[in-house]
Amino acid sequence: MATQRIPFREPLHQDIDEALVEKLVRTFYARIRADERLGPIFAKIIGDDWEPHLQKMFAFWSSLTMLTGRYKGQPMVAHMKIKTVTPGDFDIWLTLFRDTAFDICPKDVAPIFIDKAERVAESLKLGMFFDPKAVEAPQEPNSPTGD
Ligand code: HEM
Repeated sequence: MATQRIPFREPLHQDIDEALVEKLVRTFYARIRADERLGPIFAKIIGDDWEPHLQKMFAFWSSLTMLTGRYKGQPMVAHMKIKTVTPGDFDIWLTLFRDTAFDICPKDVAPIFIDKAERVAESLKLGMFFDPKAVEAPQEPNSPTGD
């Protein structure tokens, strides 16, 4: 008897599926493209053909919210190359993402996507902007002789 290969899939919520991920991602990046600050940053790197980026992002969100393992990339490496982004740009990104998640997802599901986005954004920001030199060096303990 032939065995059918069932891809591994364990959604974090029963209402999450590939169709929802695709709708959320397409709507979100349409809004990103229309954003006056983020639109040009993306356009410069992605150009006119968004489909490969969108396909990658379906895989990314599928992996994060359904544990499918479809995404194989390295987000940190990709973002470290973008020199025009500021920490404030992440606030714009997250606001657009939160609004889109609430517009597209069932109300119990939106917070799951938003939580993941906030965590990844935090770690990307650490990698991109953390400056160890900006952390104050610990004070030398007082010398026992008082000098
Ligand atoms: C201001 C914030 C951000 C900007 C401007 C930005 C911009 C970009 C751009 C231009 C690319 C394409 C890179 C390339 O093809 O070389 C990219 C890729 C990507 N972004 Fe972002 N991004 C931001 C935040 C985020 C956040 C918060 C997440 C996740 C929650 C994310 C997830 C990804 C992923 C998974 C890729 C694909 C990386 C790969 O495998 O090549 N990004 N981003």
